Amino acid sequence: MTQSAQAAQAAYRAKLLTFTGDPAQSSGAAVYDEDGVVIVEDGHVVAAGAWSALKSRVNATARIHEMRDKLIVPGFIDTHIHYPQTDMIASPAPGLLPWLDTYTFPTERGFENAAVAQDTARFFVDELLACGTTTALVYCTVHKQSADALFTASEAKNLRMVAGKVLMDRHCPEFLRDTPQTGYDDSAELIARWHDRGRQMYALTPRFAPTSTEAQLEACGALAKAHGDVFIQSHVAENPDEVKWVAELFPGHRSYLDVYDHYGLLRRRAVYGHCIWLDDEDRRRMAQTGATAAHCPTSNLFLGSGLFDFDKAGAAAMPVALATDVGGGTSFSMLQTMNEAHKVARMGGHHLTATRMFWLATAGAAQALDLADKVGTLAPHSEADFVVLDPQATPLLARRTARAESLEELLFAFALLGDDRAVFETYAYGERVHQRDGVRL
Ligand code: GUN
Ligand code: ZN
Repeated sequence: MTQSAQAAQAAYRAKLLTFTGDPAQSSGAAVYDEDGVVIVEDGHVVAAGAWSALKSRVNATARIHEMRDKLIVPGFIDTHIHYPQTDMIASPAPGLLPWLDTYTFPTERGFENAAVAQDTARFFVDELLACGTTTALVYCTVHKQSADALFTASEAKNLRMVAGKVLMDRHCPEFLRDTPQTGYDDSAELIARWHDRGRQMYALTPRFAPTSTEAQLEACGALAKAHGDVFIQSHVAENPDEVKWVAELFPGHRSYLDVYDHYGLLRRRAVYGHCIWLDDEDRRRMAQTGATAAHCPTSNLFLGSGLFDFDKAGAAAMPVALATDVGGGTSFSMLQTMNEAHKVARMGGHHLTATRMFWLATAGAAQALDLADKVGTLAPHSEADFVVLDPQATPLLARRTARAESLEELLFAFALLGDDRAVFETYAYGERVHQRDGVRL
C-alpha cells in the first residue's frame, strides 16, 4: 500500500442499519442510526454507529463521504444462484423439469467454451454488485473452467464469494455429464486452487439427487468429510414431480432430504435450495445438522413450485436465508426477492416484516453460512462490504419513503418498491465496486 495508514481511513456518514441478532427474537436486534457513520480502514470496519459518538474516532486525514440522505446496510447475501443461467433468465416453461430440459441444459452446454464462461462471469458479478449483493453461493456448470471463470471474476473485485462446479453424472444430456471419478478429481483440484484463496470459498455442488448416481453422492460425501470447512450446495424438495422422481430413484430412503443425509451432506455450511416439500422430520433434521434452507420466492412463483412455509421452518428452528435462484428466479435483486418472500409468507398467513427480511438477507444469512465474523453486519473488524441505498431512487420511492414513520416502514418501501435502481453504491472490502450513476467500474 502506497498511502499512509491514516490516509487509508474513510468515513461514510449516512443513516445506518445493522443487526445484533434476529429481529423476530429480540426487539433490539435491529440497530438504526438516523445520523450514523461507518469508519473503514484496510478493508475492515473500524467502527459503525452514531456520528455524535464516533466522530472523534475519524482521523483528521480521513476522507469523509457525506451521504446523509442515504441508508447504509450490510452487503446483501444471495444464498443460491446459477451464474450460467444469466442469459436465460425469463425463459418460460410449465414447471421445473421441462424448464431444465428446454432451456437450462442447452444453455449450460455453452460453458464448455472458457471465453463464454469468462464473459458471462464478469457480467454476472457486475449485475450482483448493481443489486447490492456482495456475497453469493453460486452454481457453475459441470465444466471445471466455469468455476475458474467465476472465481477469477470475483477475485478481480475482491468479493467474498462461494461457488462450485456442478456434479452431474446421469439424467442429463451426455454433453453435460461428469463421472464419479472426474467429478471428484475436478472438485478436489478446484478446492485446492480456490478454497480460502483470498475471499474465495468452495462449495461442493451436486446439482440435485436425480442427476447424481449413488457412486457420485458417495464420492461427494468423501470430499465433504475430507474438507470439513467447504460449503455444500444442492436442491431439495422444490417441486412435487421432482420429489416423486427421487422416491423412485432412491426407494430405500425415508425422504428426499434423507438421501443427502445418508451421504453425509447435511451439516453447517450445507445450503439446500427451496425446501418447500419437506416434512417436519426433515425440517428438524436440517436444524439438528445446522444445514440452511435457501428460500427462493421469485423462482418458486415463476416455476409454480410451491409456497415455502415460514411457520413450519420457524417451529423446527430450521435455519433459513433468502436467495434469487436466477435463472429460475426472475430478478437478481434481493429487494425484489424480499418483495416476493413477503407475499409468499402472506399466502401462508405469516407476516414477514421488512426488518426481518433485511436480516435474512444480511446478518441472518452470514450466521447461517458460518460467516458471521466476516460479513453480514457492520460490526468492528468485519469486512467492509456494504450497500448505500437511495430512498429517493425513483419518484414513487421518494414519495413513499418521505411518509415513512418508522424504520419498518422505510425498509418495507425499499423491499416492495426497490430494485437495482435503489442501489446508489456498493462497497466490497472497503472499495467502491458499483456506482449507479457512473459507468460500470
Ligand atoms: N433443480 C436442479 N437444477 C436446478 C436448477 O438449475 N434450477 C432450479 N431452480 N432447480 C433445479
Ligand atoms: Zn437453483
